[in-house]
Amino acid sequence: MTFQPAEWPRKLRSQEWYGGTSRDNIYHRGWLKNQGYPHDLFDGRPVIGILNTWSDLTPCNGHLRELAEKVKAGIWEAGGFPLEVPVFSASENTFRPTAMMYRNLAAMAVEETMRAQPIDGAVLLVGCDKTTPSLMMGAASTDIPSIVVTGGPMLNGWFRGERVGSGTALWQMSEDIKAGKMSQEDFLEAEQAMSRSSGTCNTMGTASTMASMAEALGMALSGNAAIPAVDARRRVMAQLTGRRIVQMVKDDLKPSDVMTKEAFENAIRVNGAIGGSTNAVVHMLAMAGRCGVDLTLDDWDRLGREVPTIVNMMPSGKYLMEEFFYAGGLPVVLKRLGEAGMLHRDALTVSGGGIWDEVKDAQNWNEDVIRPVDKPLTEKGGIAVLKGNLAPKGAVLKPSAATPALMQHRGRAVVFEDIDDYKARINDDALDIDETCVMVMKNCGPKGYPGMAEVGNMGLPPKVLKKGITDMVRISDARMSGTAYGTVVLHTAPEAAVGGPLAVVRTGDMIELDVPNRKLHLDVSDAELADRLAAWTPATDGPDSGYTKLFHDHVEGADTGADFDFLKGCRGNEVPRDSH
Ligand code: FES
Repeated sequence: MTFQPAEWPRKLRSQEWYGGTSRDNIYHRGWLKNQGYPHDLFDGRPVIGILNTWSDLTPCNGHLRELAEKVKAGIWEAGGFPLEVPVFSASENTFRPTAMMYRNLAAMAVEETMRAQPIDGAVLLVGCDKTTPSLMMGAASTDIPSIVVTGGPMLNGWFRGERVGSGTALWQMSEDIKAGKMSQEDFLEAEQAMSRSSGTCNTMGTASTMASMAEALGMALSGNAAIPAVDARRRVMAQLTGRRIVQMVKDDLKPSDVMTKEAFENAIRVNGAIGGSTNAVVHMLAMAGRCGVDLTLDDWDRLGREVPTIVNMMPSGKYLMEEFFYAGGLPVVLKRLGEAGMLHRDALTVSGGGIWDEVKDAQNWNEDVIRPVDKPLTEKGGIAVLKGNLAPKGAVLKPSAATPALMQHRGRAVVFEDIDDYKARINDDALDIDETCVMVMKNCGPKGYPGMAEVGNMGLPPKVLKKGITDMVRISDARMSGTAYGTVVLHTAPEAAVGGPLAVVRTGDMIELDVPNRKLHLDVSDAELADRLAAWTPATDGPDSGYTKLFHDHVEGADTGADFDFLKGCRGNEVPRDSH
């Protein structure tokens, strides 16, 4: 695609606030001058909002204030006027019931902030899982020129000579404790080793995946995703991003120019190649919905089906983000996909040029970290989309994190009605379950939890773990942390709380999982299934007030991205009316 930059100079939207001599212009401008800004800064130069998700309670983004200073420096250098704006920061590790319940709220707040304020362009300063999609969704809905810079991952964790991957190690160690292989004291000691620098999770969890998605979509400068948070080059990246957004505003290079169907297709393939998080599925569907791009679950399966996972990183493989960066990072992956005919090479990026130009000279410095396409970690690594009478609208599974022997499996269902039921019974040795069973959990989808929590990778029963078994087939309407692993079927749609077939599975039913044939089948007759569904009634009418009511009444299914029905699409950046 060839991008035609707009003419410059021209009048920018910030001039509606700052660019005249009326009472209102003086009101907007004069109050800002209490911060000591000289009058000539209001002369029509690009005003750039640095939308900062820093928060003491979002530790993964705890260093973003320092990084914002580098972004500001870049904006000043390029002749822009930077203004730092705090925005809603949904922290993965503190928000309850789950940060996902607040992604749409954050996106809504960002969209309104961008539209209501006198900014001509935005730097989206993000990191922790939900902060990246929420800001990108907000930016897409205003279509104000925007660029992403992420905070970068933590350095490698090390414990007793072994790499400790954020999240991944937490799941492994908690299973080891249940299996009697690790002491509580050792677990506490390992806690200190997990997070040894600022930054996001150092595995290919959701934060690293979404940073990679932003780069693959063309919304971040090339090479952004993998630079560690504390590496000086992260600060250079922030400064260069600040410089770049000023030119993007002058050129009028908007999210709608960059986030096209081709860009989403590139990103889906990248997700398969990096062994990315299943969470990317819901976030990218939601982002595409904001952009008016027709993207479906079927696109995920179609495009990901032949993509090999070539990045050898936890939770699918061995290494961590620091090593991914040293090996060459995402540009090497994009180059490999381009060489294999799996990349739209001319997809536009925030650079103003095609993505291939950015990556064609990338070099791989470690072929064990980023494998050649013909020596992958997993041959068919893209997200598998399963369908059948148990998931008429689809469910997802991440092959690179699953056990090959379980990819075709038929087993007896052991059903948990919700997360509380699971917690109450899973440790009971009297529970009738063994490793051949299929664990089923209901009511953890967008409406059911509420918020679609990351509980789909249910821990195995202790009596199974003690046998040395580490994986079983698990099915739910929940999500799973991007740092987690296992033969886990997620996002089953329609969810149980709205009467999807998952709601009527009973303990003792037989379930068939057939990943190669993309099938998820409940082995009861059509008539029996119809009778059960006809007899189903919702457990609750839902909340009667507050944000939880808004969420419950308007959140859509996982199969379309779990956005709010009234937030889809781009509403532009026109202010509805002038209040003065
Ligand atoms: Fe914030 Fe993983 S918990 S990036």
